Amino acid sequence: MKDIEHLVRVAVIFLTAIAFFLVARAMIKPPDYGKLGRYRAGALDDIKALPVKYAGQASCAGCHKAQAKEKAGSSHRGMACESCHGALAAHAAAPKGPKPSKPSEAEMRRFCLRCHEASVSRPAKFPTVDDSKHNPDVACSMCHKPHAPKL
Ligand code: HEC
Ligand code: HEC
Ligand code: HEC
Ligand code: HEC
Repeated sequence: MKDIEHLVRVAVIFLTAIAFFLVARAMIKPPDYGKLGRYRAGALDDIKALPVKYAGQASCAGCHKAQAKEKAGSSHRGMACESCHGALAAHAAAPKGPKPSKPSEAEMRRFCLRCHEASVSRPAKFPTVDDSKHNPDVACSMCHKPHAPKL
């Protein structure tokens, strides 16, 4: 018996650790974990309860007909209004509230170049420019209309 005493000690430590794990797991595990596989089923309701932040293009077009029409005939037609103006569900619901943002002249170059800066990672056909050579220091909107950028 004396020969295996050290093994018994190790076994006791392991069993204690396993017991601790099982108790802690039972205490922490959300009750709905496992209903839908390895997922907390209630997370779906939590996500559904979040307020919707985007209004969607159709809503903008209802009030801003001129901008919507201009954009629909341009190469920016595939872009949602809110991809440039930010999430605006609150504005669409209450247009008299705070004015929505638009990229200012100061931040315009950085804003447009997010998509249009020349980069090997972009498709060759995508229209890009070199920041340092393409009319540097002038806001893009001095020449290109953001809603219909072709000159
Ligand atoms: C119910 C009508 C309505 C809806 C829907 C609406 N807007 Fe507006 N929007 C307005 C009004 C009214 C103003 C204020 C115009 C002003 O003060 O000149 C405004 C102002 C703006 C401005 C600021 C214009 C400026 O000169 O600073 C932007 C940008 C804008 N809206 C974008 C959007 C976008 C994008 C959407 C869609 C998510 C949208 N709006 C949905 C009515 C609406
Ligand atoms: C490519 C980015 C981009 C998209 C997409 C875009 N906008 Fe704009 N919008 C701008 C910028 C930049 C300005 C500011 C222009 C300036 O200051 O000369 C602006 C200005 C505005 C204004 C102020 C009035 C004006 O015409 O200058 C309104 C209103 C507006 N946008 C609504 C919309 C709506 C509605 C849509 C979708 C149909 C839309 N925008 C899509 C970038 C965009
Ligand atoms: C979210 C990405 C994105 C942003 C931001 C963006 N664009 Fe574009 N732009 C595009 C796409 C997509 C096209 C269409 C490319 C195509 O036709 O292959 C385009 C096309 C263009 C063209 C070519 C027009 C033509 O018909 O040949 C110009 C010029 C342009 N954008 C200028 C701007 C300016 C100026 C801004 C800032 C106000 C801007 N873009 C912001 C995505 C973007
Ligand atoms: C001083 C005026 C001016 C300014 C400022 C300007 N551009 Fe241009 N841009 C032009 C002209 C002119 C062309 C050539 C038009 C053509 O060939 O159709 C052009 C062409 C483009 C093209 C098309 C390139 C192609 O391969 O078809 C893109 C994209 C573009 N500009 C984006 C921008 C962006 C983004 C900014 C801001 C960082 C900007 N431009 C600032 C005048 C300007």
